[in-house]
Amino acid sequence: MGIESSCDETGIGIVSGGRLLGECTATSMDQHARFGGIVPEVAARAHLASMVPAVRAAVADAGLAATDIDAIAVTSGPGLATALTVGVAAAKAYALALGVPLLGVHHLAGHIAADTLEHGPLPERSVGLVVSGGHTSLLMLGDLARDPIVHLGDTADDAAGEAFDKVARLLGLGYPGGPALSSAALEGDPDAIRFPRPTVGPYGFSFSGLKSAVARWVEAAEGPLPVADIAASFQEAVCDVLTAKAVAACVDHDVDTLVIAGGVAANARLRDLAEARCAERGITLRVPPPRLCTDNGAMIAAVGSMLVEAGAPWAPPGMSAYSSAPLTAALLQPVEGHQ
Ligand code: KG4
Ligand code: ZN
Repeated sequence: MGIESSCDETGIGIVSGGRLLGECTATSMDQHARFGGIVPEVAARAHLASMVPAVRAAVADAGLAATDIDAIAVTSGPGLATALTVGVAAAKAYALALGVPLLGVHHLAGHIAADTLEHGPLPERSVGLVVSGGHTSLLMLGDLARDPIVHLGDTADDAAGEAFDKVARLLGLGYPGGPALSSAALEGDPDAIRFPRPTVGPYGFSFSGLKSAVARWVEAAEGPLPVADIAASFQEAVCDVLTAKAVAACVDHDVDTLVIAGGVAANARLRDLAEARCAERGITLRVPPPRLCTDNGAMIAAVGSMLVEAGAPWAPPGMSAYSSAPLTAALLQPVEGHQ
């Protein structure tokens, strides 16, 4: 069983032998919408209220009893400290009550592992592009459960999802911004405005300049705003840099598989452009289905079950949440009070 509570989704998933048996996701998104962003204390309280019902629903969805659970994996970081703490405490309680091992896992490794639920085990080597609300990283991946995760590049400032959320807010498209902006973009012309495509080094990203360019364009505009064209042009700029760098990383490192994961991987234009560019270079593209791209418990169960099979050590009883955990491996079991 996987438990995810790093942000505003209380996600529970049950996986066996790489197969998703049952899941439940409760979200506090509506409670944050009026603030235009996530309020950590509100998210933590919502996790507390949803945790036990979500576990019950996921177990029932799998057609199991709680006593059938063999091991528990929980997101120990990164994420909102108070939100993570609720999940870690719940996971410890369930592991203790059921007498099963507990493993702490890195949220972003979970995003990557989500793909294995749909497309089977990852190849020996692959390049990973993780694009979420808080992170944007280009990674060299081996065996997710055994090998260290090597960063080829990261964002120097905003994450891709954060840029989507901020630009959506600027355009009055509401929260959460990614899905709202991508639907607005459907009606727009991606070539209407040529926004900058700043990058940092061969595999690094930067999205704050792009966000400011959109803000300047909006300030200078006269008459009614062409919202759909701005949305489509902004989305095109983000998808262009992400896919260009990811494909270049595969080519440069002689890797034939690209995995794209995280909330922004649900974006239809990103998926289409990546598919086209990978096909040109003979690269196999793997992207989880959209519902497994955004935060969920199944992805945590997926990475947890890989770690259990690999014989990973169980979490120490004093494991705590680590809100700013760097991504160096799938297993994340900090004992210090990292906040
Ligand atoms: O991975 P995720 O669910 O949570 C984090 O770990 O951050 O990612 C959430 C991010 C948000 O910034 C959201 O706006 C973005 O993913 N997102 C999208 C889409 N769906 C979610 N961005 C662009 N297009 C989408 N369809
Ligand atoms: Zn996430």
